[in-house]
Amino acid sequence: MHPIGIDFGGSGIKAAPVDLSTGEFAAERERIETPEKSTPDAVAEVMAELLSRFDDQLSPVGVTVPGVVRHGVVSSAANIHKSWIGTDAHALLTKALGREVVALNDADAAGLAEARYGVAVNRPGLVLVTTLGTGIGSAFVYDGVLVPNSELGHLEIDGHDAESRAANSARKREDLSWEEWAERLTTYYRTVEALFSPDLIVVGGGVSKHATEFMHLIDIDTEIISATLRNTAGIVGAAALAADQ
Ligand code: BGC
Repeated sequence: MHPIGIDFGGSGIKAAPVDLSTGEFAAERERIETPEKSTPDAVAEVMAELLSRFDDQLSPVGVTVPGVVRHGVVSSAANIHKSWIGTDAHALLTKALGREVVALNDADAAGLAEARYGVAVNRPGLVLVTTLGTGIGSAFVYDGVLVPNSELGHLEIDGHDAESRAANSARKREDLSWEEWAERLTTYYRTVEALFSPDLIVVGGGVSKHATEFMHLIDIDTEIISATLRNTAGIVGAAALAADQ
């Protein structure tokens, strides 16, 4: 019985059972478009539909949310419907999915996955995993232990919410060249390294498949490498946490 991870993203909601001995999907991933009005009830309904596509109705389930999740309750919603704020995701999803569910921040799930199965395996000290997508997600992992809800995408830099300038969505929106975007990333990661002195920075999110275009242009002192799990990381991390419970 493999735990199932469900990743709630801006464009799609994706689910797969995960083989925890390898960190790989144990069956084909299922995906449904994120409802345009991504309210908790609408998203819960999509997750129930996704889950029904897998035979196994007993496996533990972990769900990512692109917001702060403290003890199952969501308290921020930068890029999702504002009605998520104050939602008890644990209670809502446990009811909707008919079984115990753990909910965690999407970047935290990616961080956990990279630390257990990806590029940060056996990396001691402070590892900072960032995801560059619609927003910027962040996860602190210290000696393999996740310190949740760091929210470094919302650092204020030069008077701006950092993700509004440096997320992958900003690159697309403003049609930035890789060089122009990398300059912004350099500013972003320089701020992060000055404040937190991580031992390693990992860059994840869908755009890391273009790592060769921009990673070498980020000019900071800390070791910075691209994630290896990329867009499977959310599902893998959520499933891993569900199995830990
Ligand atoms: C949210 C974070 C999330 C990140 C990536 C940010 O806007 O505040 O909670 O991890 O986007 O989705």
